[in-house]
Amino acid sequence: MTLSSQKPTVALLCGGRSSEHSISLITARGVLGAIDYEKYNVVTIGITRDGRWFLTDEDFLNRLLEENALADFPAEGKQVFLPLGGGDNRLRLIDSKDETHVEMGPAIDVVFPLLHGPFGEDGTVQGLLEMADLRYVGCGVASSAIGMDKHFMKVAFEAAGLEVGPYEVITHRQWVQNPGQARERIQALGYPVFVKPARAGSSFGITKVNSAEQLDAAIEEAHKYDPKLVIEAGILGREIECAVLDGHRSANPLASHPGEIVMMDREHSFYDFESKYVSKTSAETRCPADLPTDVAQQLRELAVEAFLAVDGEGLCRADFFYTEDGHLVINEVNTMPGFTPISMYKTMWENTGVSYAQLIDELITLALERPLGLR
Ligand SMILES: Nc1ncnc2c1ncn2[C@@H]1O[C@H](COP(=O)(O)OP(=O)(O)O)[C@@H](O)[C@H]1O
Ligand SMILES: [Mg+2]
Repeated sequence: MTLSSQKPTVALLCGGRSSEHSISLITARGVLGAIDYEKYNVVTIGITRDGRWFLTDEDFLNRLLEENALADFPAEGKQVFLPLGGGDNRLRLIDSKDETHVEMGPAIDVVFPLLHGPFGEDGTVQGLLEMADLRYVGCGVASSAIGMDKHFMKVAFEAAGLEVGPYEVITHRQWVQNPGQARERIQALGYPVFVKPARAGSSFGITKVNSAEQLDAAIEEAHKYDPKLVIEAGILGREIECAVLDGHRSANPLASHPGEIVMMDREHSFYDFESKYVSKTSAETRCPADLPTDVAQQLRELAVEAFLAVDGEGLCRADFFYTEDGHLVINEVNTMPGFTPISMYKTMWENTGVSYAQLIDELITLALERPLGLR
C-alpha cells in the first residue's frame, strides 16, 4: 500500500438547508485552513440551500466568502451522491451538464458534517450516513435530534437530574386549537419570557418578550422557523459555556475550562444573531471565565453530564446560566457548535491546551475509531 492510500479520506460537509447555511460555510473554511493535509485526504462537499450536494474545495469557499461573508453555496459543478449499503464508500459524481454520465468519486473513510441546524445537526444527515455505512464526526441520530430540539433536550436534562429553568412547550396543534390556553400557560411563567422555535439555532426566531402585548408578534416570528415553540422564563445570570470532547473508546468525556459570553451594549438585550456573528462590539467572550475554582469544576462535571444525558458522541458545547444565587442552570447543548477559528468551542479548548488543528485531528480520530451501526 502506498502512503497516500493509508491516509484516511475525510469528507467535509458544509452549507446545508438550515438558516445557519452561511455560518456552516465559515466553519468549513476554518477547518479547511487548519486540517492536517499530511495526515488526511480532504474532499469538500457543499450543500445548497435546497439540499443538493456538490463537490467543492477550499479555494472556491475562500473566494465565495470573500465576496460575501454570508454567501449561499451555489449549485455548480459536479453533483455528489452517496451509495447506500453494501459497504461501498465511493462517492458518485454527476456533471450537471451531462446527467447521463456517472463518474466514480473518491472513497470516503469518514465524514465531518460541519452543518448546523435542521437537516444537519438534527440527526437527519446522521441517519443518511448510517444508511450509507459511513463513519462521521459527532453525535449520532438520536443525540443529534435531541440536541436540536429545545423541548426534548430539556426532558433529557431533567431526567438526568440537571437543573433547567421553567418552560412551556407550545405545539402547533395546541396553538391552533386553543391559543388562549397557550397564552395562559406563558403568562404563568411571568415576564420576561424568551419565545423560541424549538428547533432552530444561532438565535434565529428568538424574541425576548417583556409584556403580554408583545407575545403574539414573538410567536409569529418563531413560527417562521418551527411550528413547535418553547417558551422560557427569563433567567438572570451569567452565560457560561463549556466544551466537551468525547473520550477514546470507553473512556470518559473531557470538559474544557469554561468560557463566558458578556453582553457589552444595551441594544442587544441577549445574545442574538447580530451579537453572535455581525457586531464585533456587542458581545465579548472571556476565556477562561472568571469563576471560583469549585464552580468551574462543578460546571465541567455538569457539562459532561449534559453530554451523557443526550447520549452524546464526539463533541458538544454545553451552555449554562450561572445565577446570582449560585445555581448552574443548563440552557442547551449544541452537538455541532460553531467551529470557526474564533468560535467559543475552539477557543475554550485552546485555553485548555488543545490547538485547533489538534482538535480537528482528535474529532476525526474519534470518529474513525468508533464502530458502525449500534454503539
Ligand atoms: N431563558 C432565558 N433566560 C435568559 N436569557 C436567555 C434565555 N434563553 C435564551 N436566552 C438568551 O438568548 C440566547 C439564545 O438562546 P438559545 O436558547 O441559546 O438559542 P440558540 O440555540 O439559537 O443559541 C442565549 O445565548 C441567551 O443570551
Ligand atoms: Mg445558544
